Amino acid sequence: MKPDLSVSFARLHFRTPLIAASGTFGYGTEYLDVSDYEAIGGIAVKGLYLEPREGCPPPRIWETPSGMLNAIGLQEVGIRRFIDEKMPRLRELGPTVLVNICGSTVEEYQELAHILDSVEGVHAIELNISCPNVEEGGILFGCDPRMAAKVTEAVRAQTKLPIIPKLSPNVTDITVVARSVEAAGADAISLINTMPAMAIDVESRRPRLANIVGGLSGPAIRPIAVRMVYQTAKAVNIPVIGIGGITSHEDALEFILAGASAVQIGTMSFVDPSVWRRTLDGLEAYCERHDVEAISALTGGVLS
Ligand SMILES: Cc1cc2nc3c(=O)[nH]c(=O)nc-3n(C[C@H](O)[C@H](O)[C@H](O)COP(=O)(O)O)c2cc1C
Repeated sequence: MKPDLSVSFARLHFRTPLIAASGTFGYGTEYLDVSDYEAIGGIAVKGLYLEPREGCPPPRIWETPSGMLNAIGLQEVGIRRFIDEKMPRLRELGPTVLVNICGSTVEEYQELAHILDSVEGVHAIELNISCPNVEEGGILFGCDPRMAAKVTEAVRAQTKLPIIPKLSPNVTDITVVARSVEAAGADAISLINTMPAMAIDVESRRPRLANIVGGLSGPAIRPIAVRMVYQTAKAVNIPVIGIGGITSHEDALEFILAGASAVQIGTMSFVDPSVWRRTLDGLEAYCERHDVEAISALTGGVLS
């Protein structure tokens, strides 16, 4: 019998444990010609505010050893255009839909959640309290356990949808923030967002990014992310979604064994859009080789 690669948690069902990470998969349709969507369990769409935003000026991307820096600054279409123009196609695709929301104020998060609560085809809200590339909100909420809880609680009051706060690695003790959003009513937690970072062109003496500082993603951050998922999964009783530099089934398994119930893939889908099928096939072969009947049985299975 084939192993069961689907996962269910936080009142959500994913047909595979692989989720497209917010900001790296557009609004879900951009990869239709190049990726195998059957291998994708969920899609977290680009972070949305109430109003459209143009984001940071270019250059916004810089490749670094085993990773990339970005300062897109949350360029997005605004919640209304997303619902009218993007949702009709997205809800037909098959993967579970996570809508990533951002706000400059707690009230903005609340209003976004209120609007999304009645939108057909939206399965969960991923609360972006960890974007390093915006001046207000974003990472400022995610680095302060009280603010993180306040945003979570405010959103909880507006929606019946599962709420998944997305945490920043830019904190001293990730478990403090994780526990505080759990107490505030989060259904699951996703982590990590990018690490604030910087690169300089020594000839021109200018920063590589117009925003000066950006977010580091890709394999360079993976061991940090695995450590944080491990610590978080031990500290809370809600499920954890692991994110950070996943390129293959081995990488995904590291997160799952560390305690993740599912994983997200971001930067690697820029490099290799076939990462979904390749990773899923690898997970299946691993389960068969190790006599594992369901991938969910591996969550937290690291021996220590
Ligand atoms: C270009 C780019 C844009 C991103 N935009 C968002 C976003 O809008 N909201 C969000 O929560 N995370 C955003 N992220 C963070 C990713 O979802 C993910 O947490 C991070 O890149 C680590 O995963 P990876 O190493 O697999 O890319 C973005 C990342 C990149 C590279």
